[in-house]
Amino acid sequence: MSDIIDDVLSNIKNSSIFKSREYLLPEYVPDELPHREEQIKKMASVLAQVYRSEIPNNIFVYGLTGTGKTAATRFVLKNLRIKLDTFEYLYINTRQSDTSYRILADVIEKLGERVPFTGLSTAELYRRMLRKLNDFSKIIIIVLDEIDAMVKKHGDDVLYKLTRINTELERSKVSLIGITNDVKFVDNLDPRVKSSLGEEEIVFPPYNAEQLEDILKRRAKLAFKPDVISDNIISLCAALAARDHGDARRAFDLLRVAGEIAEREGHSNITSEYVDRARIEIEKDRVYEIINTLPFHSKLVLLAVIKGLSNKSSLTTGEIYEIYRQTAKSISTESITQRRVSDILNELDMVGIVTAKVVNRGRYGKTKEVNLAVSKEIIIKGLLDNDEKLAGLWNR
Ligand SMILES: Nc1ncnc2c1ncn2[C@@H]1O[C@H](COP(=O)(O)OP(=O)(O)O)[C@@H](O)[C@H]1O
Ligand SMILES: [Mg+2]
Repeated sequence: MSDIIDDVLSNIKNSSIFKSREYLLPEYVPDELPHREEQIKKMASVLAQVYRSEIPNNIFVYGLTGTGKTAATRFVLKNLRIKLDTFEYLYINTRQSDTSYRILADVIEKLGERVPFTGLSTAELYRRMLRKLNDFSKIIIIVLDEIDAMVKKHGDDVLYKLTRINTELERSKVSLIGITNDVKFVDNLDPRVKSSLGEEEIVFPPYNAEQLEDILKRRAKLAFKPDVISDNIISLCAALAARDHGDARRAFDLLRVAGEIAEREGHSNITSEYVDRARIEIEKDRVYEIINTLPFHSKLVLLAVIKGLSNKSSLTTGEIYEIYRQTAKSISTESITQRRVSDILNELDMVGIVTAKVVNRGRYGKTKEVNLAVSKEIIIKGLLDNDEKLAGLWNR
């Protein structure tokens, strides 16, 4: 058996594919960000006010995922900080730290003070944060990344508090950079938060295929050994990612996963077949991740769809609702309304897990015809993994 392990290791050790795979990982921060010059310039000129010790306007950054928002923001702050020491900055990803408690605790910890994981009141945390911020006697730029995810779950209270914070600080001043992947999300914000964050707005448009190709080429040189990847393959990855709303992360994932498959199989160059397989693998991971992290009732609805489709070729919202209701009842869980189930079906349609087509049934009015958009196996796996309650339901 151990020769299997030897084989795997030897493929990696003697990789004829990667020179340095880490250049293709999502967390790598590049030293150059081609095609984002305009956004970088605008952000830098707003933030450069710190040179005169003036508080920069707050900045609201928006654009779809993979358009370089996080990378460009980190790039500007890092490089500005190297040249100026009149300010500090800290970066918080509010998808990971997604409650008021975690966000305030994160700020305090990044300013160098430990905080218990739970147990303090948010009022107490807020007081500690103010004290810690004041101790710095500087301008502090706080980046709140992916605020759409946080606000959707917990509302915008903490954002509101942060936009008002300067009235309570004496020696230090705070300037905010809020980043969102969801462009429409702004409309759900408290108008006061919206106007305060939106003092300056920077939009990150999707990359087109040509720009992606350029970005990929530069990185591929660093990541792959010579002659592993041709310009044609890079164009192919760029074109695929451009179709997928110009997402650079997707483009890098394609290159990396295609390389990994080639490496695993002991090949020394990347062909379009590997890119194809990479695309399928990535799509599976994406779908799995979405399903696995759905809220409980959304999972129940999806389970109802699967159950219903085991003896019908498509389902109406009413049929799904009935199965959902019985399932919820069988585990003594209160049902949500049919209206809400219909919304959930729309959400599942938007992320590409089901198709929900509106059909007109004459005098019976309109209904939706629901079907699966991805394989049943991947849905079941996503639903049941790490979820004992659902696994129990499924096995009954
Ligand atoms: N112009 C660019 N040049 C080089 N790499 C880029 C560029 N734009 C994005 N990337 C890379 O693509 C990935 C996604 O970018 P990111 O900043 O995380 O996007 P967003 O925050 O908008 O979702 C990251 O690995 C980033 O380094
Ligand atoms: Mg980001």
